[in-house]
Amino acid sequence: MEPPVALITGVTGQDGSYLCELLLAKGYIVHGIVRRTSNLQRLRLDHLRNMPDVHGKTFFLHYGDLADGTTLRRIIQKVRPRELYHLAGQSHVGLSFEIPESTCEEVAIATLRLLEICRDQPEPIRFYNASTSEIFGTATEAPQNEMSAFRPSSPYGCAKAFATDMAKVYRAGYHLFVCNGILYNHESPRRSENFVTRKISRQVARIKLGQSDRLVLGNVQGRRDWGHAQDYVETMWLMLQQERPDDYVVATGKTHSVLDFVKAAFAVTGMDWEKYLEYDKSIERPTEPVELVGDASKIRNLLGWKPTRNFEDLVREMVEFDLKDLGG
Ligand code: NAP
Ligand code: GDD
Repeated sequence: MEPPVALITGVTGQDGSYLCELLLAKGYIVHGIVRRTSNLQRLRLDHLRNMPDVHGKTFFLHYGDLADGTTLRRIIQKVRPRELYHLAGQSHVGLSFEIPESTCEEVAIATLRLLEICRDQPEPIRFYNASTSEIFGTATEAPQNEMSAFRPSSPYGCAKAFATDMAKVYRAGYHLFVCNGILYNHESPRRSENFVTRKISRQVARIKLGQSDRLVLGNVQGRRDWGHAQDYVETMWLMLQQERPDDYVVATGKTHSVLDFVKAAFAVTGMDWEKYLEYDKSIERPTEPVELVGDASKIRNLLGWKPTRNFEDLVREMVEFDLKDLGG
């Protein structure tokens, strides 16, 4: 039997790289779309690109940009994936206030673009759309579930709400197999440093190693439902293996504040956080969501998924990775 073929947009990102590993381990042929940059480094994929029995054999990269519909169509026609995992796009909530137009182009319009291309294909494609808890923004209920109202509170959240609704419309209107994974925050040592968890773990490691003497953050009272990215990419695959497409909330159901993360990260190194934490108002965002916490009972009951790592495990793994990485 031919191995299944998957195509991943955003393959160089945190989730894309873990998903790639997961699918390769399951025997898939994996194709990824990468955009052209001046830097040829693809740090999160280098280990796979350096495996001669993987790169060019079961794992292939193609140049393409979300703005370039012609190329996306050509890649999809050539690769003919059974499953398309659409993860690419500007993913920083704070930055979306600074670059709202390009955020909406990448997150909202590009998703519609891909759905349209899939609609034209002769063979059905199972489509995973990377939705987010940010669609619930100023939610009036907690925890939120698949039926909660969309009340986004950032340009990023608005763009994701559009993409999530479009995915539902294409599922109902054209019978496409499209799933929205409504994922809450998920982190790992592969998280980019402009998200708060990795900024904290890396800076705590630098302080411990004598390479820095402060950690400067914005609002530390905000609470998030933090899980581990490796646990969460598993749900993307699970959703596309079901008989019928559907939407699922993926979350731990527990929240911690940014300050809790700071305290836990310093505790890993045995240092006193109060000596190093500083506040910078300019990092604050124009608006913040209310407490986002997910009710993942649907995916737990129907697909049997549950997270394998807790908050303390996550913080420890990130800090220990950064200590090793920065300490040489
Ligand atoms: P990430 O690390 O920021 O990765 C984003 C990916 O999108 C990167 O591969 C990036 O390529 C690519 N990309 C961005 N703009 C592109 C463009 N114009 N053309 C082609 N590729 C482009 O994000 P992540 O944490 O892995 O998240 C994956 C998806 O899930 C995102 O859509 C995010 O919004 C969503 N999500 C994430 C979370 C979370 O907590 N991580 C939660 C809910 C939803 P470069 O490497 O070249 O920048
Ligand atoms: N990034 C960042 N940097 N955030 C800070 C900082 C800082 O220096 N200081 C405080 N924060 C606060 C933010 O204001 C926010 O309340 C919280 O830390 C978390 O910010 P991020 O780590 O940037 O994540 P996010 O929750 O805004 O967005 C992430 O999760 C979403 C799912 O809920 C991203 O991964 C999104 O793509 C994802 O959809």
